[in-house]
Amino acid sequence: MDLTKENIISLLTDEGNENELLKKADTVRHLNVGDEVHLRGLIEFSNICRNNCLYCGIRRGNAAAKRYHMEPEELVKTARKAAAMGFKTIVMQSGEDMFYTSDKMCRIIEAIKKFDVAITLSVGERSYDEYKAWRNAGADRYLMRIETTDKDLYHKLDPQMSWQHRFDCLMMIKELGYELGSGIMVGLPEQSAESIADDLLFLKGIGVDMSGIGPFIPHPETPLADCAGGTLNLALRTMAIMRLLMPDINIPATTAMESLHPKGRIMALQAGANVVMPNVTEGEYRRLYELYPGKICVDDTPLHCRSCIGMKIMSIGRTIGTGYGGHKKV
Ligand code: SAM
Ligand code: FES
Repeated sequence: MDLTKENIISLLTDEGNENELLKKADTVRHLNVGDEVHLRGLIEFSNICRNNCLYCGIRRGNAAAKRYHMEPEELVKTARKAAAMGFKTIVMQSGEDMFYTSDKMCRIIEAIKKFDVAITLSVGERSYDEYKAWRNAGADRYLMRIETTDKDLYHKLDPQMSWQHRFDCLMMIKELGYELGSGIMVGLPEQSAESIADDLLFLKGIGVDMSGIGPFIPHPETPLADCAGGTLNLALRTMAIMRLLMPDINIPATTAMESLHPKGRIMALQAGANVVMPNVTEGEYRRLYELYPGKICVDDTPLHCRSCIGMKIMSIGRTIGTGYGGHKKV
Protein backbone atom coordinates (compact mmCIF):
# COMPACT_ATOMS: atom_id res chain seq x y z
CA MET A 1 0.00 0.00 0.00
CA ASP A 2 1.26 3.47 -0.80
CA LEU A 3 1.10 5.75 2.20
CA THR A 4 2.49 9.27 2.24
CA LYS A 5 4.65 10.52 5.05
CA GLU A 6 1.70 12.61 6.27
CA ASN A 7 -0.60 9.53 6.25
CA ILE A 8 1.97 7.62 8.30
CA ILE A 9 2.39 10.41 10.84
CA SER A 10 -1.34 10.66 11.39
CA LEU A 11 -1.66 6.86 11.76
CA LEU A 12 1.21 6.91 14.27
CA THR A 13 -0.24 9.68 16.37
CA ASP A 14 -3.98 8.96 16.21
CA GLU A 15 -4.34 6.65 19.21
CA GLY A 16 -8.13 6.60 18.84
CA ASN A 17 -7.69 4.74 15.57
CA GLU A 18 -5.45 2.03 16.99
CA ASN A 19 -7.84 -0.95 16.97
CA GLU A 20 -8.81 -0.31 13.38
CA LEU A 21 -5.17 0.05 12.28
CA LEU A 22 -4.06 -3.17 13.99
CA LYS A 23 -7.02 -5.09 12.55
CA LYS A 24 -6.30 -3.83 9.07
CA ALA A 25 -2.66 -4.93 9.36
CA ASP A 26 -3.86 -8.37 10.51
CA THR A 27 -6.06 -8.67 7.41
CA VAL A 28 -3.23 -7.56 5.10
CA ARG A 29 -0.93 -10.12 6.75
CA HIS A 30 -3.53 -12.89 6.28
CA LEU A 31 -4.09 -12.02 2.61
CA ASN A 32 -0.42 -11.72 1.69
CA VAL A 33 1.64 -14.10 3.82
CA GLY A 34 -1.11 -16.37 5.16
CA ASP A 35 -1.64 -17.83 8.60
CA GLU A 36 1.66 -19.64 9.05
CA VAL A 37 3.98 -18.34 11.73
CA HIS A 38 7.65 -18.99 10.97
CA LEU A 39 9.84 -19.88 13.93
CA ARG A 40 13.53 -19.00 14.07
CA GLY A 41 15.78 -20.51 16.72
CA LEU A 42 17.79 -17.61 18.17
CA ILE A 43 21.27 -18.31 19.55
CA GLU A 44 22.80 -15.41 21.49
CA PHE A 45 26.35 -16.65 21.22
CA SER A 46 28.41 -13.72 22.55
CA ASN A 47 27.72 -10.62 24.61
CA ILE A 48 31.19 -9.18 23.95
CA CYS A 49 31.02 -6.02 21.84
CA ARG A 50 33.56 -3.51 20.58
CA ASN A 51 30.83 -0.84 20.33
CA ASN A 52 29.43 1.43 22.96
CA CYS A 53 25.87 2.26 21.84
CA LEU A 54 24.33 4.34 24.60
CA TYR A 55 21.10 2.33 24.72
CA CYS A 56 22.53 -1.17 24.79
CA GLY A 57 22.98 -3.31 27.90
CA ILE A 58 25.98 -5.15 26.43
CA ARG A 59 27.80 -2.00 25.34
CA ARG A 60 31.56 -2.08 25.86
CA GLY A 61 31.34 0.46 28.69
CA ASN A 62 28.99 -1.60 30.86
CA ALA A 63 31.51 -2.89 33.39
CA ALA A 64 28.72 -4.60 35.35
CA ALA A 65 27.99 -7.04 32.49
CA LYS A 66 29.53 -10.48 32.94
CA ARG A 67 30.94 -11.34 29.54
CA TYR A 68 30.89 -14.65 27.68
CA HIS A 69 31.26 -16.12 24.29
CA MET A 70 30.46 -19.64 23.31
CA GLU A 71 33.26 -21.67 21.79
CA PRO A 72 32.54 -22.55 18.14
CA GLU A 73 31.86 -26.21 19.04
CA GLU A 74 29.27 -25.15 21.61
CA LEU A 75 27.58 -22.87 19.11
CA VAL A 76 27.36 -25.65 16.52
CA LYS A 77 26.04 -28.05 19.18
CA THR A 78 23.35 -25.56 20.20
CA ALA A 79 22.33 -25.19 16.56
CA ARG A 80 22.20 -28.97 16.14
CA LYS A 81 19.83 -29.28 19.08
CA ALA A 82 17.65 -26.48 17.72
CA ALA A 83 17.46 -28.20 14.32
CA ALA A 84 16.53 -31.46 16.06
CA MET A 85 13.69 -29.57 17.77
CA GLY A 86 12.33 -28.72 14.33
CA PHE A 87 13.65 -25.19 13.74
CA LYS A 88 14.23 -24.60 10.02
CA THR A 89 16.05 -21.29 10.54
CA ILE A 90 18.87 -20.62 12.99
CA VAL A 91 19.63 -17.00 13.86
CA MET A 92 23.13 -16.41 15.24
CA GLN A 93 23.29 -13.12 17.09
CA SER A 94 26.07 -11.44 19.07
CA GLY A 95 27.81 -8.20 19.90
CA GLU A 96 30.64 -7.25 17.56
CA ASP A 97 33.05 -9.81 18.96
CA MET A 98 36.30 -10.05 17.00
CA PHE A 99 37.10 -13.44 18.55
CA TYR A 100 34.87 -14.64 15.75
CA THR A 101 37.21 -14.16 12.83
CA SER A 102 36.02 -14.52 9.27
CA ASP A 103 37.43 -18.06 9.04
CA LYS A 104 35.93 -19.20 12.34
CA MET A 105 32.52 -17.98 11.20
CA CYS A 106 32.90 -19.78 7.86
CA ARG A 107 33.65 -23.09 9.58
CA ILE A 108 30.65 -22.63 11.90
CA ILE A 109 28.31 -21.76 9.03
CA GLU A 110 29.47 -24.79 7.02
CA ALA A 111 28.92 -27.08 10.02
CA ILE A 112 25.45 -25.71 10.78
CA LYS A 113 24.36 -25.85 7.13
CA LYS A 114 24.64 -29.65 7.37
CA PHE A 115 21.59 -29.60 9.66
CA ASP A 116 19.34 -28.56 6.74
CA VAL A 117 18.47 -25.13 8.08
CA ALA A 118 18.50 -21.60 6.76
CA ILE A 119 21.08 -19.42 8.53
CA THR A 120 20.55 -15.82 9.56
CA LEU A 121 23.57 -13.89 10.81
CA SER A 122 23.19 -10.90 13.11
CA VAL A 123 26.70 -9.95 14.15
CA GLY A 124 26.84 -6.28 13.18
CA GLU A 125 29.16 -4.30 10.93
CA ARG A 126 31.96 -6.24 9.25
CA SER A 127 33.87 -5.93 5.98
CA TYR A 128 32.61 -6.71 2.49
CA ASP A 129 35.05 -9.63 2.27
CA GLU A 130 33.74 -11.11 5.49
CA TYR A 131 30.10 -10.78 4.39
CA LYS A 132 31.07 -12.38 1.08
CA ALA A 133 32.96 -15.27 2.67
CA TRP A 134 30.04 -16.01 5.00
CA ARG A 135 27.56 -15.89 2.15
CA ASN A 136 29.76 -18.31 0.17
CA ALA A 137 29.98 -20.55 3.23
CA GLY A 138 26.17 -20.86 3.19
CA ALA A 139 24.63 -18.01 5.20
CA ASP A 140 21.22 -17.12 3.74
CA ARG A 141 20.05 -14.01 5.58
CA TYR A 142 21.48 -11.11 7.51
CA LEU A 143 19.77 -9.08 10.19
CA MET A 144 20.99 -5.62 11.13
CA ARG A 145 18.69 -2.86 12.27
CA ILE A 146 19.36 0.64 11.05
CA GLU A 147 17.94 1.66 14.48
CA THR A 148 16.87 5.13 13.26
CA THR A 149 17.27 7.09 10.03
CA ASP A 150 17.64 10.36 11.93
CA LYS A 151 21.38 10.69 11.47
CA ASP A 152 21.83 13.26 14.25
CA LEU A 153 19.99 11.05 16.69
CA TYR A 154 21.95 8.00 15.51
CA HIS A 155 25.26 9.73 16.09
CA LYS A 156 24.16 10.90 19.54
CA LEU A 157 23.23 7.34 20.45
CA ASP A 158 26.29 5.72 18.89
CA PRO A 159 28.94 8.46 19.12
CA GLN A 160 31.75 6.35 17.69
CA MET A 161 29.73 4.85 14.89
CA SER A 162 28.75 6.11 11.48
CA TRP A 163 25.20 5.93 10.17
CA GLN A 164 26.57 6.00 6.63
CA HIS A 165 28.76 3.00 7.36
CA ARG A 166 25.84 1.01 8.76
CA PHE A 167 23.83 1.88 5.67
CA ASP A 168 26.75 0.87 3.41
CA CYS A 169 26.91 -2.47 5.21
CA LEU A 170 23.21 -3.06 4.54
CA MET A 171 23.78 -2.33 0.86
CA MET A 172 26.74 -4.75 0.68
CA ILE A 173 24.64 -7.43 2.34
CA LYS A 174 21.86 -6.92 -0.17
CA GLU A 175 24.24 -6.92 -3.13
CA LEU A 176 25.72 -10.23 -1.97
CA GLY A 177 22.30 -11.84 -2.26
CA TYR A 178 21.45 -12.30 1.39
CA GLU A 179 17.83 -11.87 2.39
CA LEU A 180 18.04 -8.51 4.10
CA GLY A 181 16.61 -8.00 7.57
CA SER A 182 16.58 -4.64 9.26
CA GLY A 183 14.38 -2.54 11.52
CA ILE A 184 14.31 0.18 14.11
CA MET A 185 13.70 0.92 17.75
CA VAL A 186 10.82 3.18 18.76
CA GLY A 187 10.63 5.36 21.84
CA LEU A 188 14.23 6.53 21.59
CA PRO A 189 14.93 9.86 23.32
CA GLU A 190 14.09 12.81 21.03
CA GLN A 191 12.62 10.52 18.36
CA SER A 192 9.55 12.07 16.71
CA ALA A 193 6.63 10.56 14.80
CA GLU A 194 8.03 12.28 11.72
CA SER A 195 11.32 10.50 12.21
CA ILE A 196 9.59 7.11 12.56
CA ALA A 197 7.63 7.83 9.36
CA ASP A 198 10.96 8.49 7.61
CA ASP A 199 12.30 5.20 9.00
CA LEU A 200 9.36 3.22 7.62
CA LEU A 201 9.68 4.79 4.18
CA PHE A 202 13.42 4.12 4.27
CA LEU A 203 12.88 0.43 5.07
CA LYS A 204 10.46 0.15 2.18
CA GLY A 205 12.85 2.05 -0.09
CA ILE A 206 15.80 -0.29 0.51
CA GLY A 207 13.58 -3.33 -0.10
CA VAL A 208 13.93 -5.22 3.15
CA ASP A 209 12.89 -8.87 3.15
CA MET A 210 12.35 -8.83 6.89
CA SER A 211 11.94 -5.99 9.33
CA GLY A 212 11.38 -5.73 13.06
CA ILE A 213 10.21 -3.01 15.41
CA GLY A 214 11.49 -3.04 18.96
CA PRO A 215 10.39 -0.74 21.75
CA PHE A 216 13.48 0.84 23.31
CA ILE A 217 13.71 -0.35 26.93
CA PRO A 218 16.19 1.63 29.07
CA HIS A 219 18.88 -0.46 30.74
CA PRO A 220 19.92 0.65 34.25
CA GLU A 221 23.65 0.24 33.55
CA THR A 222 23.65 2.54 30.51
CA PRO A 223 23.75 6.33 30.07
CA LEU A 224 20.08 6.22 28.99
CA ALA A 225 18.93 4.56 32.22
CA ASP A 226 16.56 7.40 33.13
CA CYS A 227 14.89 7.77 29.74
CA ALA A 228 11.20 6.99 29.30
CA GLY A 229 11.59 4.28 26.63
CA GLY A 230 9.06 3.08 24.08
CA THR A 231 5.56 1.74 24.72
CA LEU A 232 4.07 -1.46 23.39
CA ASN A 233 1.28 0.52 21.75
CA LEU A 234 3.67 2.70 19.77
CA ALA A 235 5.66 -0.39 18.72
CA LEU A 236 2.48 -2.20 17.60
CA ARG A 237 1.19 0.81 15.67
CA THR A 238 4.55 1.25 13.94
CA MET A 239 4.66 -2.44 13.08
CA ALA A 240 1.09 -2.40 11.75
CA ILE A 241 1.88 0.53 9.44
CA MET A 242 4.97 -1.33 8.26
CA ARG A 243 2.74 -4.28 7.30
CA LEU A 244 0.45 -1.95 5.31
CA LEU A 245 3.48 -0.50 3.52
CA MET A 246 5.14 -3.86 2.84
CA PRO A 247 2.40 -6.50 2.64
CA ASP A 248 4.57 -9.53 1.84
CA ILE A 249 7.71 -9.14 3.99
CA ASN A 250 8.49 -11.18 7.10
CA ILE A 251 7.79 -9.28 10.32
CA PRO A 252 8.79 -10.67 13.71
CA ALA A 253 6.78 -10.33 16.90
CA THR A 254 9.78 -9.11 18.88
CA THR A 255 10.98 -10.32 22.26
CA ALA A 256 11.16 -6.72 23.50
CA MET A 257 7.40 -6.41 22.90
CA GLU A 258 6.72 -9.37 25.17
CA SER A 259 9.12 -7.94 27.75
CA LEU A 260 6.71 -5.00 28.08
CA HIS A 261 3.51 -7.09 28.18
CA PRO A 262 2.99 -10.84 28.85
CA LYS A 263 0.95 -11.14 25.65
CA GLY A 264 3.12 -8.78 23.60
CA ARG A 265 4.11 -11.30 20.92
CA ILE A 266 0.56 -12.65 20.49
CA MET A 267 -0.71 -9.09 20.18
CA ALA A 268 1.94 -8.48 17.53
CA LEU A 269 0.99 -11.66 15.64
CA GLN A 270 -2.56 -10.26 15.52
CA ALA A 271 -1.37 -6.87 14.26
CA GLY A 272 0.73 -7.80 11.23
CA ALA A 273 3.56 -10.05 12.44
CA ASN A 274 4.21 -13.54 11.02
CA VAL A 275 7.53 -14.58 12.59
CA VAL A 276 8.66 -15.42 16.14
CA MET A 277 12.24 -16.00 17.24
CA PRO A 278 12.23 -18.23 20.34
CA ASN A 279 15.47 -18.21 22.28
CA VAL A 280 17.38 -21.49 21.98
CA THR A 281 20.43 -20.27 23.92
CA GLU A 282 21.13 -22.47 26.93
CA GLY A 283 21.83 -21.95 30.63
CA GLU A 284 23.35 -18.81 32.10
CA TYR A 285 23.96 -17.19 28.70
CA ARG A 286 20.26 -16.39 28.38
CA ARG A 287 20.42 -14.05 31.36
CA LEU A 288 23.82 -12.62 30.44
CA TYR A 289 22.70 -11.50 26.98
CA GLU A 290 20.87 -8.63 28.64
CA LEU A 291 20.23 -5.88 26.09
CA TYR A 292 17.50 -4.43 28.31
CA PRO A 293 15.96 -5.31 31.69
CA GLY A 294 12.93 -7.57 32.04
CA LYS A 295 13.95 -9.86 29.19
CA ILE A 296 11.55 -12.79 29.03
CA CYS A 297 12.25 -16.52 29.48
CA VAL A 298 15.74 -16.11 30.97
CA ASP A 299 15.21 -19.10 33.29
CA ASP A 300 13.52 -21.34 30.71
CA THR A 301 14.96 -24.08 28.54
CA PRO A 302 14.86 -24.01 24.72
CA LEU A 303 12.38 -26.90 24.70
CA HIS A 304 10.09 -25.10 27.12
CA CYS A 305 10.16 -21.93 24.98
CA ARG A 306 9.47 -23.89 21.82
CA SER A 307 6.42 -25.64 23.24
CA CYS A 308 5.13 -22.55 25.04
CA ILE A 309 5.18 -20.36 21.94
CA GLY A 310 3.77 -23.24 19.85
CA MET A 311 0.72 -23.45 22.11
CA LYS A 312 0.24 -19.68 22.11
CA ILE A 313 0.35 -19.60 18.30
CA MET A 314 -2.18 -22.40 17.97
CA SER A 315 -4.45 -20.78 20.57
CA ILE A 316 -5.06 -17.90 18.16
CA GLY A 317 -5.87 -20.20 15.24
CA ARG A 318 -2.53 -19.89 13.46
CA THR A 319 -0.24 -22.68 12.28
CA ILE A 320 3.50 -23.16 12.56
CA GLY A 321 5.43 -22.97 9.29
CA THR A 322 7.19 -26.16 8.30
CA GLY A 323 9.48 -24.71 5.61
CA TYR A 324 12.45 -22.34 5.77
CA GLY A 325 10.05 -19.40 5.82
CA GLY A 326 11.97 -17.04 3.54
CA HIS A 327 10.49 -13.92 1.98
CA LYS A 328 7.85 -14.98 -0.55
CA LYS A 329 7.42 -12.04 -2.85
CA VAL A 330 3.83 -11.73 -4.07
N1 SAM B 1 25.55 -6.46 17.13
C1 SAM B 1 24.49 -6.74 16.22
C2 SAM B 1 23.95 -5.48 15.59
O1 SAM B 1 24.38 -4.40 15.97
O2 SAM B 1 23.12 -5.58 14.69
C3 SAM B 1 23.37 -7.55 16.84
C4 SAM B 1 23.14 -7.41 18.30
S1 SAM B 1 22.28 -5.94 18.78
C5 SAM B 1 22.32 -6.08 20.54
C6 SAM B 1 20.59 -6.36 18.40
C7 SAM B 1 19.56 -5.27 18.56
O3 SAM B 1 19.22 -5.09 19.93
C8 SAM B 1 19.95 -3.89 18.14
O4 SAM B 1 19.87 -3.76 16.75
C9 SAM B 1 18.96 -3.00 18.90
O5 SAM B 1 17.88 -2.60 18.06
C10 SAM B 1 18.45 -3.91 20.01
N2 SAM B 1 18.64 -3.30 21.33
C11 SAM B 1 19.80 -2.97 21.93
N3 SAM B 1 19.58 -2.34 23.11
C12 SAM B 1 18.23 -2.29 23.28
C13 SAM B 1 17.38 -1.74 24.28
N4 SAM B 1 17.86 -1.12 25.36
N5 SAM B 1 16.03 -1.84 24.12
C14 SAM B 1 15.53 -2.46 23.02
N6 SAM B 1 16.29 -3.00 22.05
C15 SAM B 1 17.63 -2.91 22.16
FE1 FES C 1 27.25 -3.80 20.53
FE2 FES C 1 24.96 -3.42 21.64
S1 FES C 1 26.70 -2.07 21.70
S2 FES C 1 25.59 -5.17 20.56
